[in-house]
Amino acid sequence: MTEPDYPVWHPFTAMKTPDAPIQIERAKDCTLYAAQGKKYIDAISSWWVNIHGHANPIIAQRIAEQANQLEHVIFAGFTHTPAVDLANGLLKILNHRFTKVFFSDDGSTCVEVAIKMALQFWTNQGIHNKIKIIAFENAYHGDTFGAMSIGERNTFTAAFQKLLFDVHFIPAPHADNLEEVKEQLRSLIKKGDVAAFIFEPLVQGASGMRMHQAEHLDELIAMVHQEGIICIADEVMTGFGRTGKNFAIEYLLNTPDILCLSKGITGGFLPLGVTLCSQKIVDVFYSQDKDKTFYHGHSYTANPLACAAANASLQLLAEEKCQQQIQNISASHARFKEKILNNPFVKEVRQTGTIVAFDLHTKENSSYFHSIRDEAYHFCLNQGVLLRPLGNVLYIMPPYCITEEELAYVYGVIDKLIKTFSARY
Ligand SMILES: Cc1ncc(COP(=O)(O)O)c(C=O)c1O
Repeated sequence: MTEPDYPVWHPFTAMKTPDAPIQIERAKDCTLYAAQGKKYIDAISSWWVNIHGHANPIIAQRIAEQANQLEHVIFAGFTHTPAVDLANGLLKILNHRFTKVFFSDDGSTCVEVAIKMALQFWTNQGIHNKIKIIAFENAYHGDTFGAMSIGERNTFTAAFQKLLFDVHFIPAPHADNLEEVKEQLRSLIKKGDVAAFIFEPLVQGASGMRMHQAEHLDELIAMVHQEGIICIADEVMTGFGRTGKNFAIEYLLNTPDILCLSKGITGGFLPLGVTLCSQKIVDVFYSQDKDKTFYHGHSYTANPLACAAANASLQLLAEEKCQQQIQNISASHARFKEKILNNPFVKEVRQTGTIVAFDLHTKENSSYFHSIRDEAYHFCLNQGVLLRPLGNVLYIMPPYCITEEELAYVYGVIDKLIKTFSARY
């Protein structure tokens, strides 16, 4: 029970809960060490951020070195090597599909930047009627007001509903609805007021690891691009190897104009977000005109410690060992998927790269507030595994350093969960 005098207010958690938060004292690689010798395998990379595991010594060392050199400097009128190196490193690993990198603080703020950049792209050209955004149903892009507006409206956003701006929502594409989705998109584009189309490429994370095919998404991007509308790929979750390639957009033929990255960018050490844009955007902002300036920034923009962490993380990602682990985890997940595919207690088993997910199949409809959620969460914790089900959706998204034995243990706990719960639900 969280006591009334406990001073901290936790995110996405009722203020009064039956369970006190678990105190973690240290962490190493895939293991979280709690008080009284209890330990947990972190099978979700702690909110999808720790791609190289916890307390990675190389990232830790680079942050320490940077802290002794330059901890922070105002980023308007000043610059520093860690930020420039990171921008160059990101542009290079993305094969120069993008031209400039704008820094912010986290996933929500890099999405806010993308929305504002896309809207101002039009006003900078004297076009003032392009003000609508198209997004996918069930999208999640963050918790700031713009990010909430372009996401699924639900219990999370209900208190703010009246203040969120109007967005056109279309279903994510699948083989069986593709023509219908294209038709919806066509009629929205025809209205002539669409500024941008934003999507989580291949995997819609927070709404339950809903997956779609690159070729279907490509068709939508092509339609939108034909009308000159700005495409924004939100790779806050899918970026940095999650989907089996370094970025989900590498599966696409059509390159978006704007890319949002955060989460894995610093390997989970420090908060950082970046919004990359293509030359098409740069061309419209490249001016000394004060009215065409992008007036956005945060106090900690391009914080040197965060940039140093990100540079180290990017270097680790590029190493053969890490790339091989991404393939190993993907192959392992594929075998696990085959194994549970026909179990009647699971449905919609799906996988993209290092993410495997499925719905627990009960009489109750799938939902974030499904009654099995808390029980499933505690069952896994009691077995020493941190999995944080999204309602009745269970998924694994481990740090890339997870060992074969650890991964086998996680699959084993899920097998046990399926056996135990199928008898009761
Ligand atoms: C696709 C996507 N975009 C944006 C966000 C928001 O990121 P943050 O929680 O760092 O604000 C998330 C968070 O889960 C996300 O999955």
